Amino acid sequence: SIPVDNVQEMVRRNSYAVPEKYIRNLEDRHGNTCLFSASTNNIPVIDLSLLTDNCKEELKKLDLACAEWGFFQVINHGIAQETLLGMKDAAVSFFELPLEEKEKYSMPPNDIQGYGHAYVASTEQKLDWSDALIMVVYPTHYRKYKYWPATPPGLKDAIEAYSFEVNKVAKKLLSFLSLIVGMDKEGLLGMHKEIMQALRLNYYPPCSKPDQVIGLSPHSDTSTISILMQDEDVTGLQIRHHGEWVSVKPIPNSLVVNIGDVIEIWSNGKYKSIEHRAVINDQKARISYASFICPNDDVEIEPLKQTVGSQEPKKLYKKIRYGDFLRQSMKRKMEGKAHTDVA
Ligand code: SIN
Ligand code: FE2
Repeated sequence: SIPVDNVQEMVRRNSYAVPEKYIRNLEDRHGNTCLFSASTNNIPVIDLSLLTDNCKEELKKLDLACAEWGFFQVINHGIAQETLLGMKDAAVSFFELPLEEKEKYSMPPNDIQGYGHAYVASTEQKLDWSDALIMVVYPTHYRKYKYWPATPPGLKDAIEAYSFEVNKVAKKLLSFLSLIVGMDKEGLLGMHKEIMQALRLNYYPPCSKPDQVIGLSPHSDTSTISILMQDEDVTGLQIRHHGEWVSVKPIPNSLVVNIGDVIEIWSNGKYKSIEHRAVINDQKARISYASFICPNDDVEIEPLKQTVGSQEPKKLYKKIRYGDFLRQSMKRKMEGKAHTDVA
């Protein structure tokens, strides 16, 4: 990965300058405003407190959300508001620190954890209008504490507490996803061998030319599922829905969940890993908190027998070791298109 300038610092020094390498071509800018399209509020909402093993109605809603949108907002997820706010307050304080302080946790070129900007492959490539702090949180023996900021003093505990709660929500969601793909409750959890969980805090500074830049380039997530917390008073997330970019309007205290590439493969394409991106405004910085749930690298992923069906099996995806899949996707992402391998 090639080191790039810190965007927040660039804006702090000169809030009008937008270097050429951030200016997108017209095609990539299409629809990148935070205005809501007519279909904004159509993102499905799942009430986690209503999802139970035998509530057919909520399970059907989940099935439709995954099949038709690949994205939904979860309410009544059971995470205390103080845990959510604790994470947000600590993250705001971290990003407000002087650059020298934050650079103590810089991502080295040979790692994907730390503070910086992941996946910059070429000096030609257009750059995203954002910085990020990335760390693996589970399993705990994979943690590299050198990337867990010591300032502000409450940040480590906030990450720990928030990630622990997100892990519980992830396991609950996986159990209901297991049911809708036709497995028993523990099915998908077992497929992971060991749940991997990473946290990525995205910081998007305001930009004087918001319609000419992109905060985070379009991509699909290589995870099983991703769980995103976002600011309530500023939007930025857009998802591809029937060929259009649709802004996701934050619901206070909710979490945005999306189906990642692994579920797309396990479900043999029934549930799609939807392309999404983040856009920028000229008023206000935005922070988002993305947790990625993934299987262990050694897990071989392929369509589940439950989803291929009993008729002549037509697997749309080749079997691949998850670790190899990750490496391939990262390479493809650098070439500007993230997509799952079709057999
Ligand atoms: C992400 O795709 O990881 C985050 C998008 C966002 O900031 O809303
Ligand atoms: Fe994403």
